[in-house]
Amino acid sequence: MTSADCVVRSLRRLITCRGPIPKRKESLADLGVIDNAWVASHRGKIVYAGEEPGFLRQVKVEKEAVWVDGSGSIGLPGFVDSHTHLPFAGTREEEFLLRLKGATYEQLASRGMGIRTTVEATRKTDRDELVALCLGRLDEMLLQGTTTVEAKSGYGLDLETEIKQLEALEEAAARHPVDIVPTFMGAHEIPPEFRGRSGEYVDFLISEVIPEVKKRGLAEFFDVFCERGVFSVDETRRLVEAAKEMGFKIKIHSDEFTALGGTELAAAAGARSAEHLIAVTEEGIRALAGSATAAVLLPGVSFFLMLEKRAPARKLIAAGAAVALATDFNPGSSMLDSMPFVIQLGVYTLRMTVEEAISAATANGAYAAGREDVAGTIEPGKNMDIVLCDVHDYPSLIYHVARNPVRHVIKKGKIVVRDGVRVSF
Ligand code: NIG
Ligand code: FE
Repeated sequence: MTSADCVVRSLRRLITCRGPIPKRKESLADLGVIDNAWVASHRGKIVYAGEEPGFLRQVKVEKEAVWVDGSGSIGLPGFVDSHTHLPFAGTREEEFLLRLKGATYEQLASRGMGIRTTVEATRKTDRDELVALCLGRLDEMLLQGTTTVEAKSGYGLDLETEIKQLEALEEAAARHPVDIVPTFMGAHEIPPEFRGRSGEYVDFLISEVIPEVKKRGLAEFFDVFCERGVFSVDETRRLVEAAKEMGFKIKIHSDEFTALGGTELAAAAGARSAEHLIAVTEEGIRALAGSATAAVLLPGVSFFLMLEKRAPARKLIAAGAAVALATDFNPGSSMLDSMPFVIQLGVYTLRMTVEEAISAATANGAYAAGREDVAGTIEPGKNMDIVLCDVHDYPSLIYHVARNPVRHVIKKGKIVVRDGVRVSF
């Protein structure tokens, strides 16, 4: 018998997403569904997920245990949002209105707006305010079922503000149940002080900022925006090699608008993920399919920027790439924080199947965020991160558009959202 201090009983259906991660090809559609399921955990880790008879035989429930009635609900792994730009200040409605009048995201960026507007606001905002902004956003995400989030700096572009953003993430993580995977993205844009001198900014990042972030232990991943007008493939390669040498895991924003070869570089460099891929080429797709690098698709960007072009999810899946879905939550290209909505966009706009989109937002999201050992599936040994949705069956999660289906959220064995309301303790 194994002890349990948290039990979810009698779920109508449990979507476990169990099995080897990352999921590729047909396995992406395998949700590992268990009907009439019981899930139990001890000290935040799952000890049992299966049918009632097995539970009764194998699990001894402690006296003070938390019980959650799952009857009438569908249970899923907590969503893993594997790409966000969480610690930013200010918003960009002005730019949004200019886009509605026909300006493109890239045109606005080349006029000094875009990311640089948010850099200005973030530099002026103090650390405590940034922490408060992050905590509020994490609450919103949690209410929609996100239990793990990757979060990038990159709105400082100087030593002080990049550190401030990463410290804000560290403090927010200590104060909030959502797990944060911190990424240093000082290579998000060329700051105004270095305009026209991107090579010198790359030197500065390599000689001063990356080592300082490492010394302070503030980030696990290094990310860079490889794009026309931002960082070239050669600059990206230099940055990635330096960051790898200093012990960072790698992510690359590649082929968002222009195919430069960043995706091929990500695969060759052993990056954990190549992200965006709206403009990915056949070679890029082949490179991902033959590598351990996940393809993180962000359908919120094509939606929010009203682009006709979308990431070729079907081709990527058919080729065997490890496809994940995430929000890219940021004030310029994807002001959306809802994983249920992103799953819907994966189906409606990228033509993923219902099952593929769910796996891509859980199991493969965990892989892309480097958390496959603890998150993304409901199996013994993983964190008890489980979302209960009051829908008849899982296809309703996609069928009923723009509704938050999340009723309860359990994070590491504690109820953090009950009946749609955040529970603090
Ligand atoms: O992922 N591509 C670069 N970074 C973000 C946009 C950030 C912004 O516009 O503030 C993205 O799309
Ligand atoms: Fe991004």
